[in-house]
Amino acid sequence: MKSRRLIPSAELPDSLWRKEAKCILLPPNLVSVWQQLLEAEGLLEKAQQPTPENLIGGGSKEVTDDHLTWRFTGSSARVQMAMLDPLDNLDLVADAFAKTFAGGRVFLADLPCGSGAAVLTILCTIAELRKTRRIPRSPLYLTVLGGELSEFARAYAHKGIGGLVESLQTEGIFVDADFLHWNACDKFSNADLIKELTLRSAGCGARMLVLANFSGFLQSSGKWDAARAQFDALFLHSRDENSCAIWIEPLTNNVIKTGGGFFDRLINWFKKQFGELPQTMSLVGEEKQPIYGASEAHAQHPLRPDHSFRSNLAVVRFDLPKEMAGKG
Ligand SMILES: C[S@@+](CC[C@H](N)C(=O)[O-])C[C@H]1O[C@@H](n2cnc3c(N)ncnc32)[C@H](O)[C@@H]1O
Repeated sequence: MKSRRLIPSAELPDSLWRKEAKCILLPPNLVSVWQQLLEAEGLLEKAQQPTPENLIGGGSKEVTDDHLTWRFTGSSARVQMAMLDPLDNLDLVADAFAKTFAGGRVFLADLPCGSGAAVLTILCTIAELRKTRRIPRSPLYLTVLGGELSEFARAYAHKGIGGLVESLQTEGIFVDADFLHWNACDKFSNADLIKELTLRSAGCGARMLVLANFSGFLQSSGKWDAARAQFDALFLHSRDENSCAIWIEPLTNNVIKTGGGFFDRLINWFKKQFGELPQTMSLVGEEKQPIYGASEAHAQHPLRPDHSFRSNLAVVRFDLPKEMAGKG
């Protein structure tokens, strides 16, 4: 029998999940901070237009702005689904979020953070759950470290957090955030990030590494081989008490196909590098079910009341305990 979820899906507030329509609503705080970012850049009107078919990648201001305008809400909805799991498909992932961010001193790394969609969504979702009394308002001291190549994206993430500080404090969430230059293909930049990660997470009772929407770069653009050594080091140095990594991607064939999909590659890499960890990974689902979790719902577009979009995700949770199997 399945154990009871830490935040049962039946108890999700209407402000985050419309049960009958099976539709995600982004947290009100997140919508207003996103709107402020768009307004300041003169992008608000553009964000009300339909998303263009092919948005290309890259680190320029133009590309960063396109992502903020048209992809930010999609990234956020995916993270929110992983956290709330409204359709009961991802218990072990949703519980990891609920447990990690329940209170105390906690460390969160968001890589690559882009304009901060993942970290801002996590913060605003916890705040909304506290505001609606779904979870206790125990003081939460959160140290956030984002890493990202685009300086424009880092600046948006920084500004976004700045716009939230006060409303988060009202819900007992105290955030200290920094967004650093990080190149996933460069060992020196990665070493610098790991150093900061180690220093800033010292004394935290729980740690989470969130990696979201990076398969386009790593898989489709063929950069996995150049980045793999950096992930070896990152995961190795993220091992600690109550430490896990959550990797979230869109539910596409490129990500989930057996034999050659991104998650196949990622999971095989993890098994090879960290196979001796006592809980190599927590499988979502029964035996012989896919090793990743997947879910799909609608999400309400925050600026277009008559428009909802499909939100889907594939997700893997890697536990990164300090102790090795048989050596504890
Ligand atoms: C699809 S976005 C995802 C951003 C964010 N995680 C989200 O969910 O919105 C991919 C990000 O990777 C960044 N990026 C591309 N190459 C990178 C590299 N070599 N190292 C670090 N970040 C990189 C891009 O600037 C972009 O912000």
